[in-house]
Amino acid sequence: MRRRSGCCKVLAAAAAISAILIPCVLAKDYVVGDDKGWTINFDYQAWAQGKLFFVGDSLIFNYGPEQGRHNVFKVNGTAFKECTTPADVQPLTTGHDRILLKTAGRKWYICGVGFHCTAGQRLAITVLEQGASVPSPSPSPLPLPTPSPPLPTNSTNAPPPAPSAATKAAVSGFVMAFTVLAAGWDIMTKA
Ligand SMILES: *[C@@H]1O[C@H](CO)[C@@H](O)[C@H](O)[C@H]1NC(C)=O
Ligand SMILES: *[C@@H]1O[C@H](CO)[C@@H](O)[C@H](O)[C@H]1NC(C)=O
Repeated sequence: MRRRSGCCKVLAAAAAISAILIPCVLAKDYVVGDDKGWTINFDYQAWAQGKLFFVGDSLIFNYGPEQGRHNVFKVNGTAFKECTTPADVQPLTTGHDRILLKTAGRKWYICGVGFHCTAGQRLAITVLEQGASVPSPSPSPLPLPTPSPPLPTNSTNAPPPAPSAATKAAVSGFVMAFTVLAAGWDIMTKA
């Protein structure tokens, strides 16, 4: 029993190392509506609530193979509000439509079939720049600021910028993780 718990500590240390060394920047796929898919009578605003969409992530609209059942139009805010489909744009119709979020900002999607949009089949999201940490709580359509290099710290004798803060953080993280690992190993061998 005690061996086992020591072993778990080692595993936890290993997990800590990977968490530090592998920053999570992988693009994510969001299946709109999860297993309900893209349909009427579903609250897509509630679905989007609390999710953070970043440039590089994708939305997947699933609505089955039947032609004409649903579709996906990317629209502007006005068309979203009024449920109007643009005459000059073809909708997506595959039933498994993937939309890559290429730019930051507010995005709107509606179904153009019948009165599906007014029946709730519409989604509005805000896409964040990669590296943005906090979504803007303001609903105004202001463009998000482009990421800028960190401001220089106000230090009287500023050290040269190399090694970078990120490198330092990684090194100290590594050292910390190894300390944890060593502690775990110590516990395991003593157990
Ligand atoms: C929104 O889209 C509609 C339909 O495509 C278009 O007629 C309208 O001019 C657009 N509005 C704005 C503000 O871009
Ligand atoms: C930098 O810090 C000094 C005091 O440490 C202060 O007098 C100075 O106004 C600061 N400069 C800026 C740009 O904040």
